[in-house]
Amino acid sequence: MNMTTLETMLGTLKKVTEDISKTLPFSSIQTFLGDLKQFKPSWPALRIGNLVARTPIVQGGMGVGISLSGLASAVAEAGGIGVIAANGIGLLEKDYFQDGQAAGLRAFRREIRTAREKTKGIIGVNIMVALNDFHQMLDVAIEEKVDIVFMGAGLPIKGLPVERLRKNGVKVAPIVSSSRAVDMIFKMWNKIYHDIPDAVVFEGPKAGGHLGFTEEQLDDPSYQLEAIVPQIITTLASYEKEFSREIPLIAGGGVYSGKDIHDILQLGAKGVQMATRFVATDECDADIRFKQAYVDCKKEEIGLIKSPVGMPGRAIRNQFIIDSEEGRRPSFKCAWKCLASCKAQDANYCISIALNNARKGLLRQGFVFVGENAYRVNKIVPVASLVEELAQGYWLCEKQPVTSRLQTLVSSLKHLEGKYKEIQHQVVVLGKAYEQALTSPSSLVEKAHLTELRNQYNGALSKVRKLQFQITEKLIASYFLLSPKTV
Ligand SMILES: Cc1cc2nc3c(=O)[nH]c(=O)nc-3n(C[C@H](O)[C@H](O)[C@H](O)COP(=O)(O)O)c2cc1C
Repeated sequence: MNMTTLETMLGTLKKVTEDISKTLPFSSIQTFLGDLKQFKPSWPALRIGNLVARTPIVQGGMGVGISLSGLASAVAEAGGIGVIAANGIGLLEKDYFQDGQAAGLRAFRREIRTAREKTKGIIGVNIMVALNDFHQMLDVAIEEKVDIVFMGAGLPIKGLPVERLRKNGVKVAPIVSSSRAVDMIFKMWNKIYHDIPDAVVFEGPKAGGHLGFTEEQLDDPSYQLEAIVPQIITTLASYEKEFSREIPLIAGGGVYSGKDIHDILQLGAKGVQMATRFVATDECDADIRFKQAYVDCKKEEIGLIKSPVGMPGRAIRNQFIIDSEEGRRPSFKCAWKCLASCKAQDANYCISIALNNARKGLLRQGFVFVGENAYRVNKIVPVASLVEELAQGYWLCEKQPVTSRLQTLVSSLKHLEGKYKEIQHQVVVLGKAYEQALTSPSSLVEKAHLTELRNQYNGALSKVRKLQFQITEKLIASYFLLSPKTV
């Protein structure tokens, strides 16, 4: 079934409804007609408490200057959740090597403010729990009243200013790689804060950057989105019941097309997190050479690295990575131990500096983090076009069942309309006959015949009412089928 077929069906439904509205005395049909004229396919909004993103996409935070105010505000403008990443943001500042921490906090605050000036959409931040200045970054996020804080690379449990977060309307979403982690976080939050986080992000093994899995788990089917998403939904259900609120699950890692989004939402997730696709956009804050590396890379060039922070990471493997694996160290200075788990002195390089070089387009002095599907990217586009492409892809998957259900409804509406006209005609004929019989000289009309006519007339009238009811039912079903909540 293609788009034209659905449009034809909508046209037919409109026509049938118009015809029915001429004979049926219901004002609700007029309202439905009005709604039908405005019908526009859309995808379901992502709701996190009172936060409503009309596009159910969270742009994954990308550290060391890849997702700053430029990308985050563009995604927010397109209806999604734009995210500024805190880690390595200080490298944007000239005085990073004098006071790395101060530089980071300053740049972070500035980027949040710039994003706010550019859009009224939803702006979130990504702060890695493993950062040595995690709490100071979180303070900035609260002071600047960001909409939501995503916390990954560690379990956000102890020492959180939950009361202050709540008072300032800042939502919290931990980023996890298992259902067990969700259970642990929620159990502990409940115990310590008598509260729970507002949403959960599951980042699967196909993601870019640092990965929360061992190398062996990366290709294991039991760690993929399809396996873990239902598990997390089950885990969240008991907390949703206890706290009487919905906790949406957002899933990501390898989500590439509108169809992928559709498949994940079908699994029960309420949104997706995507990063790779957003790198190849005009608004991404990295140098054009960084973005072009996505367009140029081949599948076999995408591989894993052992990051100095002790986790595997996915990147475009280049000479810099090979040199470091073979023990050739570039000279580097650690400005300050930005990541708690970093073994900077044992490492062959500083990952923040390497990633910052790549961000600036100096690809030989660093490397490019990518998701598993980066090789499929073939052009750099504006964020709005990318989101539109994804929406169309999503809608393509949605419309097939909608079209066939609409087809059934329209054909029964047509059938009911035909019957309605027929019976309506009978009512008129019987009505006239009855009237005539009543006004005729009484001797000519037998009493029995009068009763018979009256019964027939009443029978036809009740059939009309039954048909009106059935038609209304079908119209309501069409209305719900086409309402944005359903499609
Ligand atoms: C270039 C790049 C940098 C990333 N940096 C971070 C980061 O700093 N913190 C983080 O939590 N996730 C980071 N990620 C992971 C993304 O936020 C996202 O969850 C993941 O890449 C989604 O998979 P996808 O890229 O296949 O869409 C990064 C991903 C990429 C591609």
